[in-house]
Amino acid sequence: MTNFLSLNDVTDLDALIQSGLDAKQHPFADQQLGRNKTMGLIFFNSSLRTRLSTQKAAQNLGMQTMVMNVGQDSWGLEMEEGIVMNGDKAEHVKEAAAVIGKYCDVIGIRAFAGLQDREKDYAEIVLNQFKKYAGVPIVNLESATRHPLQSLADCITLEEFKVKRRPKVVLTWLPHFKPLPQAVANSFCEWMNARDVEFVVTHPEGYELAPEFVGNARVLHNQNEAFEGADFIYGKNWSSYQQYGQVLTQDPSWMVTMDKMRLTDNGKFMHCLPVRRNMKVTDEVLDSPQSLVIEQAGNREWSAQAVLKEILKTI
Ligand code: CP
Repeated sequence: MTNFLSLNDVTDLDALIQSGLDAKQHPFADQQLGRNKTMGLIFFNSSLRTRLSTQKAAQNLGMQTMVMNVGQDSWGLEMEEGIVMNGDKAEHVKEAAAVIGKYCDVIGIRAFAGLQDREKDYAEIVLNQFKKYAGVPIVNLESATRHPLQSLADCITLEEFKVKRRPKVVLTWLPHFKPLPQAVANSFCEWMNARDVEFVVTHPEGYELAPEFVGNARVLHNQNEAFEGADFIYGKNWSSYQQYGQVLTQDPSWMVTMDKMRLTDNGKFMHCLPVRRNMKVTDEVLDSPQSLVIEQAGNREWSAQAVLKEILKTI
């Protein structure tokens, strides 16, 4: 694997999931692989899980890590080519990415969608500019349209907790007052469509995700109907894709409650975190044995380790 930007960079998904599960059993088995190698983690946005789990994974593999928050620890970075740099961005990505690539053997990038300009966000400018100019492998730590390390951790979690050969997995939109990116939901769709699961997406009208991510998933606007017999409920808020970046409703009836979980087949609740309690999902659900959110976040370490291991084999 030379980069990890999306599912497209994965040649054998079953093997990658198994590699994550193996890493969980034997975290330090590949300590030699990353010896004398450095991973840079570059954050344009906040993070708890991605920041810590990816550092931990790199360290498990024997790597050193460096973390930088763009605009706080560094100069603001200009992404546009050929621009007169008379604004607030003091450094161009052409130099910045190339310089970071001199210090690091692998670079992880987190850069969320701006939610102002759909075409620009979906062009993945930050990720692609780093890929173009860094000269070393790039790992997507959540970009404008995708969060593949999260999706791999989700796949690992589903594998661990499924009790049926082909479980029913439901992605449900949750209410939120702030516009949030579609990245986690897009990615989850993309990865679920590559797994042997019955995949259902439920959301209010107007929250349709981009067709290239939804694929052949069954889409329902009736959340209760979607939950019936489900084995896994994956909650996430996202802003509208059609009316790009808009919050069209905050309808609290879409919050996940224990009554709704009772419609499932003793289903498990998943969320990538952070989650706003009693707005998106009740305390009762999050604090119940049906919640997998902590296990899921724990698996972020093993998803990052599986990906870094594949990259380290190529450098
Ligand atoms: N799920 C996730 O990516 O969490 P952070 O934003 O805290 O990294």
